[in-house]
Amino acid sequence: MALVEINKRYSELAVDDCCLSCGGAVDHSKPQPGEICLDLGSGRGTDVIRMAEEVGEKGYVYGLDISDGMLKKAESTARKMGVENLRFIKSELEIIPLAHKSIDLIISNCTINHADDKQAVWNEIYRVLKEGGRFVVSDIYSTSPVPEEYKNDPEAIAECWAGAVTRQEYMDQLAKAGFKSIEVIEESVPYEKGKVKVSSITIKGTKGKGCCN
Ligand SMILES: C[S@@+](CC[C@H](N)C(=O)[O-])C[C@H]1O[C@@H](n2cnc3c(N)ncnc32)[C@H](O)[C@@H]1O
Repeated sequence: MALVEINKRYSELAVDDCCLSCGGAVDHSKPQPGEICLDLGSGRGTDVIRMAEEVGEKGYVYGLDISDGMLKKAESTARKMGVENLRFIKSELEIIPLAHKSIDLIISNCTINHADDKQAVWNEIYRVLKEGGRFVVSDIYSTSPVPEEYKNDPEAIAECWAGAVTRQEYMDQLAKAGFKSIEVIEESVPYEKGKVKVSSITIKGTKGKGCCN
């Protein structure tokens, strides 16, 4: 999906009270005092602000999003709440403008399915995590490949299922990025979404843990 369309669609949603999430990555992430964290697709900034409070003044949290409306809303909420140990960054998921091995914890909620190049996103997650750093990601996968004709269908994209990949593809991308062992924290039974069946999944992985790292 073109980034301008994502920007427009989510900027409109930023001022709405409507639902955005499909999971609870932050609930399982347990940020620790002093940690440096990153939320990919930070939306209205709720999870970033919560993590900033949990990591305390010695910690720091980045929120990354492509939507101007979401970034504006997130910044204004953080300002109103007086939370200062955070920064919102405008970027696409495939290019994380942060240094190698600089992050302790990455979370993402219902966002990676939107990325055009999901392998690039996972490669970036691996690159910016410190050795021993972890991710907790909530996302969706489809039980069978999304038919080609829907992949660029604006309505299907707006309904957040056109970008889903299968569970096998998802796990293959993680492995290819370098993650050796993945823990599935939650996984829903498949449900109908548009023209496919999807499942919501929350996964956790650690950089450098596994048989061969
Ligand atoms: C479904 S919302 C989830 C927001 C938030 N994580 C939550 O759970 O409330 C997806 C968010 O990802 C952002 N997003 C979608 N595609 C993106 C991309 N390619 N690069 C960066 N951000 C993207 C959108 O702007 C939106 O804020």
